[in-house]
Amino acid sequence: MPQATFYFPKGFLWGSATAAYQVEGSNKNCTWSAWEEDPDHILDASRSGLACDWWSGRWREDLDRAANNGQNAHRFSIEWSRLQPTPDTWSEDALDFYRAIARGCHERGLTPIATLHHFGDPIWLAEQGGWENDETPQLFAGYVRKVVEALQPFVDLWVTINEPMLYVYNGYIDGVFPPGRKDLNTGLAVLVNLVRGHALAYKTIHLIQRNGKAGIAHHYRSFRPAHTWLPLDGILANMFHNLLNNTFAQAATTGKLKILTKQVRIPEAAGTQDYIGLNYYTSDLVAFNPLAPAQFFARRYYPKDADLSDTGFIANYPAGMDEAIHWAASFRLPIYITENGIEDADDHLRPQYIIEHIHRIWRKVNNNIPVRGYFHWTLVDNFEWERGWTQRFGLWGLDVDTQTRIRRPSADLYQMICRENGLSSEMVEKFAPQVFEKIFPG
Ligand code: FCB
Repeated sequence: MPQATFYFPKGFLWGSATAAYQVEGSNKNCTWSAWEEDPDHILDASRSGLACDWWSGRWREDLDRAANNGQNAHRFSIEWSRLQPTPDTWSEDALDFYRAIARGCHERGLTPIATLHHFGDPIWLAEQGGWENDETPQLFAGYVRKVVEALQPFVDLWVTINEPMLYVYNGYIDGVFPPGRKDLNTGLAVLVNLVRGHALAYKTIHLIQRNGKAGIAHHYRSFRPAHTWLPLDGILANMFHNLLNNTFAQAATTGKLKILTKQVRIPEAAGTQDYIGLNYYTSDLVAFNPLAPAQFFARRYYPKDADLSDTGFIANYPAGMDEAIHWAASFRLPIYITENGIEDADDHLRPQYIIEHIHRIWRKVNNNIPVRGYFHWTLVDNFEWERGWTQRFGLWGLDVDTQTRIRRPSADLYQMICRENGLSSEMVEKFAPQVFEKIFPG
C-alpha cells in the first residue's frame, strides 16, 4: 500500500467556523429571535434557546477544544443586534464579549477571522425596512466602525457579509429566512444595498486598519446540467451559476451589479475584496422543468446514487471543491475556504467528506493556487437556522439539554490533519479506507 503525506504550506490556517446566532443563545434583539417564535418557521418547531451557550461563557471551553484539536485559527461572527440593541445605544457588554473572544483566540494560538454580518439583523433595523431601506448601508458602516475600532488589536481578517446571495434568496425569494418575503423586486433592492453596505464596510475597515484584510464569504454552489445533451439544462445550470455564484463577486470586482435584466452601477464596490472566501458544500443537477416558473423553470436535485447527508440537505461531491477553487482563482486573490462540512449525526460520512475535500484543496495548493486556509463547518453542533436542531454539523456533537459535548471520530481525524499540516495515507486508511484507492492510487 502506498505511503505518503500531502503536506500543506507552512502557515496554512486550519480552523472551524461558527456564527453568533447559532452558538450564543439567549439572543432577544435579532430578527431570528422574532422569526423562531413562530413554530411554523422552524422545521422541527425548535428554538435556539441557549444554543451552545457561548453567551454565558462556554465559548471558552469550545475554543479550548479547537486549540487542543490542533487548530490554529477560528472564524466567529459578531451580532449587530447585540452590539446596537436600539438605534441610539451601543452595548459595552457586547463589545467586551466579542473583545474577549478575539483576545481568547490569540491566547489559544488561534488566528481569528471575524464576520460582521451572518444572516441576522437588529429588530429595530427590520422595523425600518432592513436592507430594503437605502439608509441601511450607512448604518451598517457605523456598526462596522464600532467593531473594528474595538477589535483591531486582535483581528485583521474580516468577512463583511456571509453568503449575501443566500441571504437574499432565502429571505426574499424562497421566504424561509426572515423577513419571509417572496418578491423578486424587493430581493433585488436588498441586493443593491448589500453591495453598497459591503463596499462601505470594506472602506471603513481600511480607514481604521492599515493591515486589515476584508472579503466576503461567498456561498459557492456547483450546478451541473442533468442531461448534457439537452441544451436547456446547460443554459439553466449556467444561469444559476451566474445568478448565485457570480453576481455578488462580480459586483465587488467591477462595481457593476448585473442580475437578470437589471444593471446597477455601484462604482464604490469595485475592487473591494482582499481575498475570496468560499463556503462550499455541494452540487446540484439542473433540469428544465416547464411546470416550475417560480423556480426559474428548473428542477434542482441530487443524483440517485449520491452519498447524502442525514436530512438529504447535502450530497457529497468533492469535485465541486475543485470547481469552486478554480472559479475563485479567476479573481487573482488569495483564497480561504471559509466553510465546508456535512450534517452527519453518527459520523458515518463526515470523515470521508473531510478527506476528499481536503485532498481536492491540496491538489489546488500544489498547483500554486493560493488557498491560505480551511475552516470546517462546524466545531460543535449548533442551531441551523430554519432547519432548527435537525442537522448536526459539529466535529463535536451537542446534547442541547445538558450542554454536553460529544467528540466525534471526525474530531480525531481533523486533529491529525491540523497537527500534521497535511493529509496522510495512514489517516485515510484509518478513517475512510473505502476511498483509499481514489486518493492514493497504485
Ligand atoms: C451556510 C451558513 C452557515 C451554516 C451552514 C450549514 O450556508 O453560512 O451558517 O448554516 O450553511
